[in-house]
Amino acid sequence: MKYLVTPALPYVNGPLHLGHLLENIQANIFVRALRMAGEEVLYVCGADSHGTPIEISAAQAGVAPADYVQSWQGVYQKCFARFGIEFDNGFGSTHTDLNKKHAELIFERLKKAGDITVKEVDQLFDPKAGRFLPDRLIRGECPKCGAQDQYGDSCEKCGSTYRPTELKNPKSTLSGETPVLKSSKHYFFELSHYTDKLKAWVKKPGVLQPEIQNSLKLWFEDGLKDWDISRDAPYFGFLIPGEKDKYFYVWLDAPVGYISLSEAAGGLDLWSQPDTQIIHFIGKDITYFHALFWPAMLMGAGYTLPAQIAIHGMLTINGEKMSKSRGTFILADKFTECVNPEALRYYFACKLSNGIEDIDLSFEDFVGRVNADLVNKIVNLISRTVPLLHKNYAGKPTQIAPDLAAEIAVLARQVEPNYRTRDTQQVVKDVVLIADLANKYLQDLSPWDAKKNTPEQAHEQLSTALWAGKVCIGLLKPILPEVALQTEKMLHVGELNFKNILDPLDANRQLEAYSRLFERIDMKKIEDLTLNPSPQTPSPVAGEGAGGEVSINDFMKIDLRAAQVLDAKTVEGSDKLISVNLDVGPLGKRHVFSGLRPHVKPEELVGKMVVLVANLAPRKMKFGVSEGMICAAGESVPHVILAEGSQPGERIH
Ligand code: MSP
Ligand code: ZN
Repeated sequence: MKYLVTPALPYVNGPLHLGHLLENIQANIFVRALRMAGEEVLYVCGADSHGTPIEISAAQAGVAPADYVQSWQGVYQKCFARFGIEFDNGFGSTHTDLNKKHAELIFERLKKAGDITVKEVDQLFDPKAGRFLPDRLIRGECPKCGAQDQYGDSCEKCGSTYRPTELKNPKSTLSGETPVLKSSKHYFFELSHYTDKLKAWVKKPGVLQPEIQNSLKLWFEDGLKDWDISRDAPYFGFLIPGEKDKYFYVWLDAPVGYISLSEAAGGLDLWSQPDTQIIHFIGKDITYFHALFWPAMLMGAGYTLPAQIAIHGMLTINGEKMSKSRGTFILADKFTECVNPEALRYYFACKLSNGIEDIDLSFEDFVGRVNADLVNKIVNLISRTVPLLHKNYAGKPTQIAPDLAAEIAVLARQVEPNYRTRDTQQVVKDVVLIADLANKYLQDLSPWDAKKNTPEQAHEQLSTALWAGKVCIGLLKPILPEVALQTEKMLHVGELNFKNILDPLDANRQLEAYSRLFERIDMKKIEDLTLNPSPQTPSPVAGEGAGGEVSINDFMKIDLRAAQVLDAKTVEGSDKLISVNLDVGPLGKRHVFSGLRPHVKPEELVGKMVVLVANLAPRKMKFGVSEGMICAAGESVPHVILAEGSQPGERIH
């Protein structure tokens, strides 16, 4: 039996954040555990490249959407790699010929099956921008409670959902114009044709978590609605065969990406063999697409269905939704500047199970678990014993205490099944339990105390504790691949897997000298993550307004100045930064690292009058000091705000 594992394909119109990492770390741990158990696994992911937001972001950045997507692809691949996440055949994309081929093929098969219908639809159209408006680009008054400035699909005040045509005083966020109703031909997928088959599929044991099965019941009770799978130009996507200005809706070709990415990685046959285990990891916000639309498409087109949709909850930070205004919107790259990425892998593993409840990253809990459990208990078994074995026994271990070893073996054997059911919370609990046993044994027998033990006894005690440490790290190898690799090298144990994990250490082999396996985490560094929003990353993804109210005094604390760009250049070794020298008039000259690459060309900045946050605390970065921040606007891709007509150094208020 072969496995195919996929995380969701992220939209590439903003940098990766810790929410993305939650899912990708979960999937990566699962893949590593399966491989460590000897299973054959194909593991693919790539950019979800299409749709209106990406098309608009690319236009704002002044680049073709395909180039825009490609520039992000590289950024994502590198960022994932920092967290130990590498996909088979790299981080791909849905904007490929291969994906077009598969999207068209599936569409044609559904058409043949009689599942595609065509209807005229009235939609809001922005006459100035010359485009139909997706719900998120329309704002107006809620038709239920009258709240101002609400999106076209739902009200943030009263929570009601509605159609954009029901919104009062609607305005296009693109142009500020009042949209008009315009009719257009649309293609629909008749989801209801698959009601019975879907009902049977969602009931199959193991396919969906029980909570999800329950919520799907409501959807079936309401009756499955037909699904609009077309969008009018301008759009970034694949043209519908036979049409000139109608495209597949991004959600049609996005999951098809799972198939085309598999083919690119040499695994197309996985989609036709009945015994393949196809497992999609997703967040609960995109359940509908993966539990209804996607399986129905596969049923209609005759492919293997997913064996499991592994759904996780949303990440919160210190109990709150990730929010830019509160500084809790933590970007993945920024995290790696402050903390060992494997600490995050460890923490998420501690928190994740097969449930769908939200996962909270509490800084205190994070620091506590990493320092108290991982460093002080687990790594301690190695850091404590290896130096003593070198000091007194020429760096060679001896036989181990059979009673403790037997007790540990019982716990160790239940770990692999827990990885298979994604219960990493239980995995970590069992490993910490093993470490507790071994630490207690060390503490009780005190091999460092020559009065308590003969040299032979002490040798056995140290060796037993070291062996227990090796077992712990081996069991955590899917979670801590880098720590495991260092341990394998230090102890000369070869590649640890679930079969050899309990093997004794080689008594004739000298251990390497101990070198630090894991640093304790400094709480201050974590706090920096939220207190000091990074100036070097482009403004994060769209979809969130500014925070709560501030007084005019608060606002006046921020010293905004017009500043003229003297020179601007790329920074070697960074694909995000531009190094900028500014003339701030009476305030003198300033140097700033701006996170505007890859969306702004440095040469375009030279001579421009920009807006500088002049009293931001100077920030020391890898490449030098940054003395302020250049203001930019744009939902997802920043463009620089100009203070045309101002003199350098003039205050902006
Ligand atoms: N492009 C679609 C998925 C298409 S799959 C064929 C999409 N992209 S996304 O970038 O918005 O989200 C990618 C994944 O990250 C989703 O599974 C989503 O649930 C997950 N997360 C995004 N924000 C998250 C949190 N704050 N917390 C946990 N997961 C989150 O949806
Ligand atoms: Zn409302």
